[in-house]
Amino acid sequence: MRLPIQILAICGSTRQSSSNHHLIQAIRNLSAGRFAVTQLDSLTDIPHFNPDLDLTADSAPAAVQAFRAQLAAADAVLICTPEYAIGVPGTLKNAIDWTVSSMHFSGKPVALVTAGTSGHKAHQSLLGTLLIIESKIAPAAQLVVSSVKTKVNDQGVITDAATEMQVRKLVDALEAVVLGKEEELLPAPSLF
Ligand SMILES: Cc1cc2nc3c(=O)[nH]c(=O)nc-3n(C[C@H](O)[C@H](O)[C@H](O)COP(=O)(O)O)c2cc1C
Repeated sequence: MRLPIQILAICGSTRQSSSNHHLIQAIRNLSAGRFAVTQLDSLTDIPHFNPDLDLTADSAPAAVQAFRAQLAAADAVLICTPEYAIGVPGTLKNAIDWTVSSMHFSGKPVALVTAGTSGHKAHQSLLGTLLIIESKIAPAAQLVVSSVKTKVNDQGVITDAATEMQVRKLVDALEAVVLGKEEELLPAPSLF
């Protein structure tokens, strides 16, 4: 395994001043030296999922092929997303739908952070999706950050001590999964 661990970060929000984007920045800073975090440019470049455009190898739209290539090159994926109308943002679910048949999440270590006003419903829903497409998600690599706007600032600094500790544990858990050391993880506290 080449180090640092190569992480593809996906922000479920397309908003310019997204708290989830700020959380990705915070995780990049907290994991420096251990993770090299590359953020996916934009979910909005990925067209609406249509299986008819994906019938043969290499027939998928260019943006989809680029997304899949970034997933394939990454050792692990970090998803930070808000909840919209008690669900997963459509742009994020759309991108993931393109990977169901291509299996790009199969066996891929994933850390899932859902951050918003609340976030629990979207978290449950997205967790179900990621598990059915065979992502490897340790319980300690899952986190819901409610009231996120009071916990991370626009400089990518986590301003809430408890949240910072939870994020550090999430980084440890994702690293352990990538390095095949999951058995060393302590059980995670219940999210719900
Ligand atoms: C259309 C819309 C629907 C939302 N629905 C929910 C919701 O169901 N649950 C929730 O916790 N937050 C909800 N929110 C609040 C977002 O979670 C919050 O604005 C969050 O900060 C957005 O993430 P971002 O800062 O990364 O863009 C909603 C926001 C918008 C714009």
